[in-house]
Amino acid sequence: MRAQFVIVAAMACAAAFGDAFEMERVNARAREIVAKMTLREKVNEMTLATGTLADLKRQFDAGACGHVISALSLADRRAIQEYVIENSRLRIPTTFQADVIHGYRVIAPIPLASACSWDDALIEEAESAAAQEACWFGETLTYAPMVDIADDPRWGRVMETSGEDPYLSGRLAAARVRGFQGRTAADIASNRHILACGKHFLGYAASYGGVDCRMRDFSKREVYETFLVPYRWMIDAGLASVMCSYTGYDATYSTFSPGLRDFLRNELKFDGVYMTDWDTFAHAYRAGVSSSPAESARRAICEGGIGLSMFNAGFTNLIEFVRRGEVKEELIDREAVRSIAMKIRAGLFEDPFGRGDPTKTNGCDAAVLATVRRLAGESIVLLKNDGVLPLSLTNKVWVCGPYADERAEVLGQWAQSGRPEDTVTVREGMERAWGYGEIGWSGDTCKLEWGADTVVYAFGEPRGWSGEGPARGSLELPRDQLDELKRLKATGRRVVAVVFAGRPVLLAEVLANCDALLYAWFPGTTCGDAVADIVSGKVNPSAKLSQTIPRAVGQVPLTYRKRRQWIGFGYVDIPNDPEFPFGFGLSYTTFAYSKPRVVTPSPKAGEAVRVEVDVTNTGAREGREVVQVYVRDEKASVLTRERELKEYASVTLKPGERRTVSFDLTDESFALYDVNCIRTVEPGDFTVFIGPDSSTTNSVTVHMKDIGLGASRAGH
Ligand code: BGC
Repeated sequence: MRAQFVIVAAMACAAAFGDAFEMERVNARAREIVAKMTLREKVNEMTLATGTLADLKRQFDAGACGHVISALSLADRRAIQEYVIENSRLRIPTTFQADVIHGYRVIAPIPLASACSWDDALIEEAESAAAQEACWFGETLTYAPMVDIADDPRWGRVMETSGEDPYLSGRLAAARVRGFQGRTAADIASNRHILACGKHFLGYAASYGGVDCRMRDFSKREVYETFLVPYRWMIDAGLASVMCSYTGYDATYSTFSPGLRDFLRNELKFDGVYMTDWDTFAHAYRAGVSSSPAESARRAICEGGIGLSMFNAGFTNLIEFVRRGEVKEELIDREAVRSIAMKIRAGLFEDPFGRGDPTKTNGCDAAVLATVRRLAGESIVLLKNDGVLPLSLTNKVWVCGPYADERAEVLGQWAQSGRPEDTVTVREGMERAWGYGEIGWSGDTCKLEWGADTVVYAFGEPRGWSGEGPARGSLELPRDQLDELKRLKATGRRVVAVVFAGRPVLLAEVLANCDALLYAWFPGTTCGDAVADIVSGKVNPSAKLSQTIPRAVGQVPLTYRKRRQWIGFGYVDIPNDPEFPFGFGLSYTTFAYSKPRVVTPSPKAGEAVRVEVDVTNTGAREGREVVQVYVRDEKASVLTRERELKEYASVTLKPGERRTVSFDLTDESFALYDVNCIRTVEPGDFTVFIGPDSSTTNSVTVHMKDIGLGASRAGH
């Protein structure tokens, strides 16, 4: 049973609607409209209003309601859109913007969890489902994907990221953009897709001590090697807008940073809307980098190149600056064109009321639930299994723990448009799988009646410990929960620990007191069904960690992408390696890898190096394996990293089945940024690792000749 399985690079979709001709047509139309607009009308395009219907009307009358962010009813959305169009000389509609971070009504696993699926296609499908739901509620734009690359799990917003790796985050972010916006110009103009906004530009995750908004300085090299990477992927996929971060670059507040503006406009050639984060004009004033909100507005457009201010009316000050000749009107024209172009792309001029379907806003859509349940099943990581899982339906199972019947916490943060009453709890999911009355259950304190042979203990961090704002100084789980787990283990029952968390937490005590460990993150609305699917074996786990799990807080910040070190110094009191490496995850089956082979050892300029490996399912169940390719540059002019993820692919194998998985590594997989931050391939030896996680030693050497950089993927 041997078949050739060639991986097609996931880049495929440099989206059709990103195509130059289509954008030129949109921009030409936008320029025509802007040519007819007054200064006040143009400045209005740079404002994003919030509040009730009455507040919004007032803001429109004051020339500050070009866009809206507000939790309005569908009826109020219609009402303000009508008001805006009726009272606008050129009948220019507004957009409705929201944080669709992991689902809308049906809450999907948090992004850090869905990234563990390493499943571009399923993530695209799930974001497309979220976009459809958001449209039913009348939204036009989401502040997602969040592509901050975090190496510090103390930072609360790690839950919103796709983990620590720029390649994985970038590929998945492109999939998310395609899901939200669709793949064609017609998709994004339709009533089933929404505009996407990549955030936070740039390096927001570089937090000092893990504290949100307390920035850690980072270098220009880090910008190129790490932070810009996902933006390149998203922009290739047709990304509509970008949000700047609350922090700064090179000691300049992001909103005012010419450096960041140049990365975005000159380096990435991004021509969409670039907006502030929430109320940054006032924040700048408080941080002591602006003398007034008006001055913030002037610096934001003139220095930072910002074209839309989230929530405040600060940009209305620009009218006075233009009149006094202190800000050129061309700058305002340029930003108004970008705003209008975005509205044209979204189809708002043709159909301003098309998004919004009151018949779909009551319950949860069955198709969306099914997609999200599959994604949750691919997001839950099996970290330990002494053979106890999957349980059989003849097991007498006792379900307990603080999250066993919990509806709100398991949704995670950024779930404001979801409803806890829609959540399927772990208890309910287990009862559906085993049959009502077949599962023992005891709420928070485990009484363990029922003659149970197996305990499923659901516990973890409160959801409020992650998200925007909160940082953690310790990464331990709550003491009382760990004590309860120990008590359960001491009863002699087999214990399945199901851990809920918005970040990697320390697991040593959990591992010592359980027979199996499922890392469920915050799985969302279908929580209980997804957990039961895995516990019962209906779904064979295949998730792989998107973030390294440390052994001790002293190890963080932590990533497998460490720079190479000349000698093996390390900790004297803890091991150097993490508890679980990036990319790790078990299955109910096992996979064996052959040694990788280089198929085309001497590529010509621009040609790919084909490497391949045989993967065999050596267990007794069908399973999906995520095959990961890492590259290390053995000798280089700059200090490179231990290894970096360059490709991955999923392969689903029946018991005993073997397949050859091939990867075409372009010269981009071997490129580095030289001392001047110029992308180049330096000739020499590269070690290509192919295996099940980032710690694999299964490798082959590729020798690159002096071929320069010819591939089309430059910069990814
Ligand atoms: C967050 C953004 C979010 C915005 C709107 C800000 O505080 O940093 O990520 O999109 O609020 O809710």
